[in-house]
Amino acid sequence: MANRQITLAQRPTGMVDQSTTSLIDSPMPVCGPDEALIKVGLLSIDPTIRTWMNDAPGYLPPIGIGDVIRSGGSGVVVESNSERYHVGDVVNGMTGWQEWAIASESNKFTVLPKGLGLDLATVMNVLGATGLTAYFGLLDVGAFKEGDVVVVSGAAGATGSVVGQIARARGAGKVVGIAGGEEKCSEVVEKYGFDECVDYREARLTQRLREACPKGIDLYFDNVGGDVLDATLANIAMHSRIVMCGAISQYNATERGGVTNTSMLIMRRGQMKGFIVFDFAHRYAEAHVELAAMVLDGRIKHQEHLVPGLEHAPDALNLLFTGGNHGKTLVVVDESVQLD
Ligand SMILES: NC(=O)c1ccc[n+]([C@@H]2O[C@H](COP(=O)([O-])OP(=O)(O)OC[C@H]3O[C@@H](n4cnc5c(N)ncnc54)[C@H](OP(=O)(O)O)[C@@H]3O)[C@@H](O)[C@H]2O)c1
Repeated sequence: MANRQITLAQRPTGMVDQSTTSLIDSPMPVCGPDEALIKVGLLSIDPTIRTWMNDAPGYLPPIGIGDVIRSGGSGVVVESNSERYHVGDVVNGMTGWQEWAIASESNKFTVLPKGLGLDLATVMNVLGATGLTAYFGLLDVGAFKEGDVVVVSGAAGATGSVVGQIARARGAGKVVGIAGGEEKCSEVVEKYGFDECVDYREARLTQRLREACPKGIDLYFDNVGGDVLDATLANIAMHSRIVMCGAISQYNATERGGVTNTSMLIMRRGQMKGFIVFDFAHRYAEAHVELAAMVLDGRIKHQEHLVPGLEHAPDALNLLFTGGNHGKTLVVVDESVQLD
């Protein structure tokens, strides 16, 4: 039996295309001492994968040419020589874009709890990296306070939709989303319960944000960077907090746009702070309890955008940049892998 893998053939300029990756058959990995063999079920498709394809400094090293594309994912343990994993455990970790992965001391996986009443795709979404990013980004990095006027970009996406719903549940004064197009904006209001949503593709974004937040923005959760960040900076309230979570508008960009309104941080005594969700790894269990409860009692609505077939992982990644995804993007490598 072979292990189908997707490797990095060459570094992309702009969007990933057919020359970026190769689909190859490799020998099945062998489960060594203290290791476990994992059959991959779902891949988490995250914008950061695109940044790892660049030969540029980041929070993890670039993916090497010829290496399997680095990616989060989940799967089931089918063989184990490790006390950490048992056959049948469903695990989450860095699977890479491939059908079979090895859990080892240098690539540890988390065993997912069964019996939560949540399916695997939901766990990968709300209890996975994006839900955790929303939780810690809003509450810790953004120091959210009841009554805050909160603005979230990428509001119809995996991270943004959860940010707005936690803010709503915790008593925000107002929650305003920013998303691309009429359909996404109505999803943000009608499905996720934001008070309002502003379409960044339409003109006069700065003015429309001013109309939505006449007293200013207390907390801006930035998933996008670039012009959208600039328009929100122009509208911050006194002592505003800006959470630098992502800059998806820049990941494929061949030229970087300048942000011009940083002087507003001085005038309004504002703060901007970046973070990576891994910074909070020691506190994931705490977030899992609250996020699972919020999904089960309906305070967090969610949706998963399932793309069938490992070979479609590069197309799935591109969906994040065209806005073709609705909710958390996951590639289904093997649908037999389930949590319950
Ligand atoms: N700091 C961390 O640890 C961490 C962890 C996870 C994710 N993130 C960041 O969080 C952000 C969201 O990630 P996600 O996985 O939740 O993805 P997502 O929001 O589910 O999907 C990405 C969305 O970004 C929007 N988008 C794409 N290009 C854009 C552009 N040029 N301008 C404005 N919006 C654009 C699209 O929405 P529209 O259709 O509305 O345009 C698209 O649906 C990313 O920046 C990601 O890097 C950071």
